[in-house]
Amino acid sequence: MLAVHEDRLASAVARLGSENAFEVLARARQLEAAGRRVVHMEIGEPDFDTPEHIKKAAIDALYGNHTHYSPSNGLLSLRETIAEYASRFRGIDPAWHADNVVISPGAKPIIWNILSALLDPGDDFVYFDPAYPAYASAASYLQANVHAIPLLESRNWRMDLDELERRVSAKTKAVVINSPHNPTGGVLTRGDLERIAELAVRHDFLVIADEIYSRNFYLDAAYVSIAALPGMRERTIVVDGFSKAYAMTGWRLGYAVAPERIAKTVALFNNNTFSCVATFVQMAGIAALKGTDEPVLRMNEIFRQRRDRLVEGLNAIANVSCTLPEGAFYAFPNVSAITHDDKALAKFLLEEGGVACGGGSSFGKAGKGYLRFSYAASLEDIDWALDSIAKTLPKFKG
Ligand SMILES: Cc1ncc(COP(=O)(O)O)c(C=O)c1O
Repeated sequence: MLAVHEDRLASAVARLGSENAFEVLARARQLEAAGRRVVHMEIGEPDFDTPEHIKKAAIDALYGNHTHYSPSNGLLSLRETIAEYASRFRGIDPAWHADNVVISPGAKPIIWNILSALLDPGDDFVYFDPAYPAYASAASYLQANVHAIPLLESRNWRMDLDELERRVSAKTKAVVINSPHNPTGGVLTRGDLERIAELAVRHDFLVIADEIYSRNFYLDAAYVSIAALPGMRERTIVVDGFSKAYAMTGWRLGYAVAPERIAKTVALFNNNTFSCVATFVQMAGIAALKGTDEPVLRMNEIFRQRRDRLVEGLNAIANVSCTLPEGAFYAFPNVSAITHDDKALAKFLLEEGGVACGGGSSFGKAGKGYLRFSYAASLEDIDWALDSIAKTLPKFKG
C-alpha cells in the first residue's frame, strides 16, 4: 500500500490495482541480463510476429501520410469493418453498425472508459475471481460496490452461477464476464451464457463481455457470444481487440461494441484522455480483419499443441494438477498441495529454476494456491521449463 498522503498523491490511488505480470517480467529480464536462461511464461502476449500483411498496411499508411489525428471514436472505415466482422463472427442479428463501435489503444483502456461511463459511486458491479485485474481496479477507483463471484475449478473454471443468481438484483448495474478466460483458460458454455442472459433481462443489468480471447479458442464447437442471445444485443458491451488474435500487443489497438448511446459516451472518455488512436495503426487493423485469416488459425494450432504438451507435463509432476484450458493461452495449475503462498513459489521458480510465471493470487483471492503459465513459449522452451519445474519444486520450503 502506498503512503499516499505523505507523497501528496490522491487518496484514490490506493484503490488502484495493477498487473503483476509486468513486475515478474522486469525481474526475469534482470536475470537474463546477468546471463541466466529464463523461459518467459509470465506475460500474456503471443510470441509470434505480427502477420506480414498487417505490417505492410501500417507501413503503406505511414508513407501515405496517415499520421494525423482521427476521430475519438475511431476511423469510420475501421468501425465499419469491425461492425461487419464482429456481427458476422458472433451471428448478431440485426447486425451492429459503425456507431456501435468505439476504438481504443488496446482493450485495457476501453475497460476503464466503459466503467467510467457506467458506474456511479455506490453502484453494484459484479465480476468474478480469479480475474484480469483491470475490472476491479477501475470499479474500485470509481467507488462502486464491487462483488466477486468465484470461478470453480470443479466446473473447469466457469462461474458459480448459483452464487451469481444470489448476488444480482435490480440494484446491479453491470456484470462482467470473460470467456475464454484469463488466467485459467476456462470457457463459458452456451447454457451458462443463457442463464446469465436470463438474469440480465430479469434484473435489467448490462453485461460487459470481455471477448479478447474469442479467436484463441480450442473447442470444436463455434464460439458463442452472449451478445447473440435473445434480448442481449441491447444490453451487452463486447470488449475485443487485436493484441491476442493477431499478435499485436505492442501496437495498442482494441475496441468495444455497445448500444449507441453507451458507445458515444465511451468515446467522450476517449476524447478526454487519449484523444484518438494512432491513425496508421487503425489502418493496419482494417488489414487484419479484411486480410487472410490463415495466420490466426496457424498460431492457434501451435497454441493448441503447446497447451497439450504443457498441461500433460504439469499433470505428470508430483503434487501439481491442471485442468485443460479450452481457450486463451494460459494454464492454471493447482499447487495447493505444495503451498498456498503461490507468489513465493512463483518467485522461487524464477530465481531457482529460471521459469517465469505468475502467482494465482495476483488475480484475486480465489487464485490462491495456483500458478499461471502463459504458453506463449516454444515447445522446446516448454519442455525445458517442465524439466526445470519438476527439479525445482521439491526444493521449495513453503
Ligand atoms: C482478459 C483481458 N482483457 C483485456 C486485455 C487487454 O488487452 P490489450 O490492452 O492488449 O488489448 C487483456 C490482456 O492481457 C486480457 O487478458
